[in-house]
Amino acid sequence: MGEPFYITTPIYYPSDKLHIGHSYCSVMADAMARYKRLRGYDVMFLTGTDEHGQKIQRKAEALGISPKAYVDGIVEGIKGLRKRMDVRYDRFIRTTDEHHEKAVQEIFRRLYEQGDIYKGAYSGWYCTPCESFWTESQLVDGNCPDCGRAVEKTTEEAYFFRLSRYQDRIIQHLEENPTFLQPVTRANEMISNFLKPGLEDLCVSRTTFDWGVKVAFDPKHVVYVWVDALSNYITALGWPDNPSDGYDRFWPADIHLVGKEIVRFHAIIWPAILMALGLPLPRKVLGHGWLLLNDGKMSKSKGNVVDPVVLCDRYGVDAIRYFLLREVTFGQDGVFSNEALVNRINADLANDLGNLVSRTVAMVERYFDGSLPEIIDPDPADADLIELYEGLTARVEGHLDNMQFSLALAEIWRAISRSNKYIDETAPWILARDEASRSRLARVLFNLAEGLRIVAILLQPIMPGTAPRILESIGVEEGELTTWTSAAAFGLYRSSTGVQKVAPLFPRLDLEAELAAMSAALPSTERETAPAAPAPISVTEASTQPSAPAPAVEEQDGDAPITIDDFHKIQLVVGRIEACEKLAGSDKLLCSTVNLGSETRTVLSGIAEHYDPADLVGKRVILVANLKPRKIRGVMSHGMLLAAEDPDGRVRLATVDGDLAPGSPVN
Ligand code: ME8
Ligand code: MG
Repeated sequence: MGEPFYITTPIYYPSDKLHIGHSYCSVMADAMARYKRLRGYDVMFLTGTDEHGQKIQRKAEALGISPKAYVDGIVEGIKGLRKRMDVRYDRFIRTTDEHHEKAVQEIFRRLYEQGDIYKGAYSGWYCTPCESFWTESQLVDGNCPDCGRAVEKTTEEAYFFRLSRYQDRIIQHLEENPTFLQPVTRANEMISNFLKPGLEDLCVSRTTFDWGVKVAFDPKHVVYVWVDALSNYITALGWPDNPSDGYDRFWPADIHLVGKEIVRFHAIIWPAILMALGLPLPRKVLGHGWLLLNDGKMSKSKGNVVDPVVLCDRYGVDAIRYFLLREVTFGQDGVFSNEALVNRINADLANDLGNLVSRTVAMVERYFDGSLPEIIDPDPADADLIELYEGLTARVEGHLDNMQFSLALAEIWRAISRSNKYIDETAPWILARDEASRSRLARVLFNLAEGLRIVAILLQPIMPGTAPRILESIGVEEGELTTWTSAAAFGLYRSSTGVQKVAPLFPRLDLEAELAAMSAALPSTERETAPAAPAPISVTEASTQPSAPAPAVEEQDGDAPITIDDFHKIQLVVGRIEACEKLAGSDKLLCSTVNLGSETRTVLSGIAEHYDPADLVGKRVILVANLKPRKIRGVMSHGMLLAAEDPDGRVRLATVDGDLAPGSPVN
């Protein structure tokens, strides 16, 4: 059995209106779990539902049913959606599971007996939708600082967890383990916004409602929903009574994947609870961004169909999975729209990938009756294509290991584009006219089929339904030629059955017709309020980025020399441009996705008149990394690319000599 690998999603609040944003995290976790399985790991992928709390009790009361009956109905729907999205989890925990409830009572009892939980009186503000307590000073305009909704004044007898006791150890843990919380900007945010100002003890019980885990020794109290919820990551593994059910093997978790708004619970409160219990901390907490609609967190559809089931039924689950993982850069927010989805399907899936498959298969059929000859001579002219494919697996692994699905897919699509270009360069239809070019023709088609074999293998974690169809079309049966490791070698292709025409993987869509059909699928109330198309990229300003240090040389007058310390205040790093496009509505600005090794930034530069965006992809540039983020035309720019301008007004980017790793400091 392989090495254990344990990955979790948050457990979801049962909600009767699930949107595509809800699937983002579970699809990402699923792709990671599949990738690790393919690499031979013994994977435990946990997801589930967070079923207690006042909000649910109130909803059930309004419907006139018991809370349990209410959640039972919804949980089935959530499981069904996971299935529809091809999310293959290993375990599903419900916080209403008996074993879980007992374990939560045990945690509470242990912490109380050892003095980490004490009884006191609570007076403060409670946000029911967020299940969060706030002090007066934390409120923003009298409302919840997280969601902006109204809060309720509460005073009650309550138990408290001595969170303050763990403050220094948590700061130390975050500082000494820079990979514990990623993206790294979130760790800085935790330290400066929550930890350094000082942690207050946390109210961990409620008496004003009873839909929760009862405190065993004082049953008029129910356990605070976040203590109940966070514990799921260990109770699902059988802790404490039955650790051989998974705890012994899988804890500590390798990855807790969570949305950015709940990083605080996972990076501060959960570690403190584990420290108090004397248990090891998870290895990594990864905070992802949100899928947005029209600048707001997705909660209502506003002119776009966001129902994941409708989307999967219409476009196929793999197209939706592809879109989610391609369009959103890990750690940042992304915008969902039906138009962006259809455009991606047409450009990337129907055109680039779909055409490559159908052209390759058609040519092997036409010129070789469906099977290439056994012996195929290599040709030095193909060296660069082969080199690109030979390094592809390692590059894709590098990105997947960091949850950078969009970069992994960009790499795979670079190879797909190269193959398409190779068809145009080699013009097989001309080779086919001349018997003397027959072996060259065979080699060209072999290279195309072999490229597709590699692409299909690497796509398995993300498009689990499409990958086998590509392999089937080129006649490769599951076995030695479809293992993950076999994708690292170029030249293994052999068709066991001959190529086979399959139905087009992704039929081309008519954008106008699709948008009309989608709009008709919306409930009429939402159709009428549909506003214009959303901004191309939207990053919530708050909470994604702590304010960067002030610019370095502000107190200097023009030509006065600066000290080396002044210079070192400017953080310069090597970045690799992974993607670049013109900023919609601007003639001057280019929007680049810059890879810094451990993170990826969106950076705007006023160089559109000097560069074709496509020519910048792959360039190594120098980024001022600690410049205060700036919002320009609705898009946040995180840093500045260095460039030089000559007296004629020609502008060129500063680059580095050689292929230094992205993230390397420039001194
Ligand atoms: O927070 N885009 O549950 P939840 C991306 N029960 N992610 C989104 C999203 C969007 N538009 N909308 C929601 C809870 N999510 C707690 C967790 S864990 C011990 C307890 C993500 O149902 C969100 O960021 O409100 C979160 O990670 C997950 O869905 C569940 O959110
Ligand atoms: Mg939430």
